[in-house]
Amino acid sequence: MSVYSAWGFSDVPFQVTALPPSVQGSRLLIGRDTEVAQLTRRLGTGPKLATIEGPNGVGKTSLVNVAVFRAYDHYITQGTGPLLIPCSRTFQLSPGKTTSDLSTDVWYEVAQTLVKAASSLAAHKDVTERKLLARWLNSPILGTLAGSVGVSIAGFGGSLGGSKPESANTGEGFRTTGIQKLVKDWLAEIFAEPNSGGVVCVLDNLELLQTSESAREQLEVLRDEILTLPGLRWVLCGALGIVHGVASSPRLEGTLYDPIDLSGIPDSLAREVLISRVEAFGVIDSPYLPLEAEHFSELYHLMRGNLRAALSHADEYSQSIADAGAHPDTPQAKSAAFAAWLDSQTQKYNDAAASQLGPTAWGVFDQAIKVGGGFSPSSFADFGFKSIAALRPHVRDLEQAGLLVSTRDDGDRRRKTVRVTPKGWFVNRARTRNAQ
Ligand SMILES: Nc1ncnc2c1ncn2[C@@H]1O[C@H](COP(=O)(O)OP(=O)(O)OP(=O)(O)O)[C@@H](O)[C@H]1O
Ligand SMILES: [Mg+2]
Repeated sequence: MSVYSAWGFSDVPFQVTALPPSVQGSRLLIGRDTEVAQLTRRLGTGPKLATIEGPNGVGKTSLVNVAVFRAYDHYITQGTGPLLIPCSRTFQLSPGKTTSDLSTDVWYEVAQTLVKAASSLAAHKDVTERKLLARWLNSPILGTLAGSVGVSIAGFGGSLGGSKPESANTGEGFRTTGIQKLVKDWLAEIFAEPNSGGVVCVLDNLELLQTSESAREQLEVLRDEILTLPGLRWVLCGALGIVHGVASSPRLEGTLYDPIDLSGIPDSLAREVLISRVEAFGVIDSPYLPLEAEHFSELYHLMRGNLRAALSHADEYSQSIADAGAHPDTPQAKSAAFAAWLDSQTQKYNDAAASQLGPTAWGVFDQAIKVGGGFSPSSFADFGFKSIAALRPHVRDLEQAGLLVSTRDDGDRRRKTVRVTPKGWFVNRARTRNAQ
């Protein structure tokens, strides 16, 4: 039994996965009203692609998921706005993956998304009053595809039109070309009017491609194949300046919207993140946690907007309390336990880094903190170096010690492609305290 169920929760309140496109995900998204509106506007106005740039763990994928879910829900309940359907999976390009592998995956997932969503919509009474939904659910393609992707749509078929699951066609050839053609036709049929919406697909973590040149090349190949087709609406997400790098490419000009720059939710909202999760996952009146909202805020502040890191460390702390068989239950006892844990983590990360790094690397680290935690290698002079090449080995040492993360990008040298990691912020805490 997980410690959280013993403490009165139905699920881990510190889950670090992106918020899903669901009622629950929507309820747990704190802040972000402006960004949700911004993204929804871009998604509703094609054919340009929406793009989001923001550091790891700030909430890019969650923002997209919830924005799309809210638009979807709005269309179903109100019948206005674009019909945006969240794709059941997010996609990634990575160095080992070809663009055609990606296309195959996309068509298959979009087929699955349309069939599964149709199956759950069939229960919705008002469905036929909504033009796009009626088109979708009444299309004969639905039955054929349901069989092909192996999804059965129980209790569904006759009432809304001619959709009856046909015999499955699951051969590999059909998986690549047959599904693609059916889905394209189907999307063109449902989303016949411009700006009526589409299945929203996310191409996530573009920074995995390391350089914006490589990302650009792949996106150009994908542009006409999957990125700008009617009925598919894409969001490109990435960190470490890669989306800005891609967006500034003349070759993709006119294809992408300017990136939405996402930074962490304000520190003042961090406590709401914890409170909303306790409410959502608590199954008894007063579920127990060994920390208070203010401690979570402190952790979030330390992680400089990286919500994933704050949640993950809050989980580590809670597990360590359970491991120790402790149960601090007054605010004072929780504060003392939390402070002791924070100090021991700080010490642990600092000791590990201290044994790996020399004074020059530490100088680079301190300067990185001084400039706010993110910098471009082209600012080498501020770090006391004569060239990017002279600075680079020290950045590499700091990366190896886990205190910085960077992406190679030779396109635009002013872009901030190096950042302090969560571990780095812990180490900074140690250095600041030692200096006092
Ligand atoms: N606005 C928010 N309110 C509450 N929780 C959030 C919010 N945004 C993100 N989260 C939570 O923070 C964590 C990180 O979110 P998410 O995965 O969306 O970040 P990301 O920017 O996509 O990260 P990565 O760069 O690693 O892909 C998840 O646990 C998610 O549930
Ligand atoms: Mg993400």
